[in-house]
Amino acid sequence: MKDTIDRLRIDGADRIKAAANEADIESLRTALLGRKGEVTSLLRGLKDVPDAERPKMGAELNRLKGELGALLDSRLEDLADKAETQGPELDLTLPGTPPTGAGTNHPLLTVLESVCDIFYGMGFSRGIGPEVELDHYNFTALNFPDDHPARDIQDTFYIDPKVCLRTQTSPVQVRTMEVTEPPLAMIFPGRVYRNENADASHSSEFYQIEGLVVDEAISLADLKETIDIFVRNFFGAQEPTRFRPHYFPFTEPSVEVDMQCVACRGKGCGICGQTGWLEIMGAGMVHPNVFKAAGYPEDKYTGFAFGMGIDRIAMLKYGVGDIRLLYENDLRFLNQFRGVL
Ligand code: PHE
Repeated sequence: MKDTIDRLRIDGADRIKAAANEADIESLRTALLGRKGEVTSLLRGLKDVPDAERPKMGAELNRLKGELGALLDSRLEDLADKAETQGPELDLTLPGTPPTGAGTNHPLLTVLESVCDIFYGMGFSRGIGPEVELDHYNFTALNFPDDHPARDIQDTFYIDPKVCLRTQTSPVQVRTMEVTEPPLAMIFPGRVYRNENADASHSSEFYQIEGLVVDEAISLADLKETIDIFVRNFFGAQEPTRFRPHYFPFTEPSVEVDMQCVACRGKGCGICGQTGWLEIMGAGMVHPNVFKAAGYPEDKYTGFAFGMGIDRIAMLKYGVGDIRLLYENDLRFLNQFRGVL
């Protein structure tokens, strides 16, 4: 009997090692330790073993039973661990799935920041002003006459007779000059509001960037050079800009700035109305009355200012045909700019 026990010890261990899965283990457990199993039938055969040997054989058989049971259990655990870590085969060279849940900057903000970057490169710094503005800063200090049509409730959102939503970023010019001595070169980006019906090119809210440079001998030529540098950098336009005479209450002289059409490079197309030029901003030399309202000494300083619509700039650069797309937050529109800007 001793031989049979020894053989079963070795043979049983081999068979357990060879088990490939949980089902193999369970059928082995039955074959070895079950009611009709090999160890069990040896235990039954103990009654035929001579008295003198029986206790020893009994103890030996019980030891074997314990050993095989433990081997079965640990093999079962190994198999379970393996199943967990194996999984399907992985191809580590496949490109990853781009994350879709993560947020990204709105294209308008990206354009606004890249416009600012170009001006930082020219030594400008950045300032801000309130969106809810006093009528004084939005109009009076900017030399708007009392009966100017822009002051009309049809064009401006009033909160009360003295307070409105700013219609332009120009009031930040005055607020800044009140607390800053020249020389100064600053940009003021921000949101502005106008009482307009929305259509493809109008929105009741949009973004502007205001620029202001003041020192003792600033000229219109400085304005031209600054705007040309911006246009060349932002749009890659080759041709310089052209200035057309215009009127703003707070600049004198005032100009509207055109740049070469980005779509046809000046040849004339649908986007530029066959003129080859696109209007991109208003600008001019700061009016002496604005310096006065800001508390600057008379005749000491000259300066230029400009104001451009960021929405318009973004639409021109990326061929967006309808300003409303910039405010609807439709992901099908926004996702086109993912990773592009
Ligand atoms: N504030 C003007 C507008 O909104 C633009 C402008 C800014 C013009 C500065 C001249 C100087 O149309």
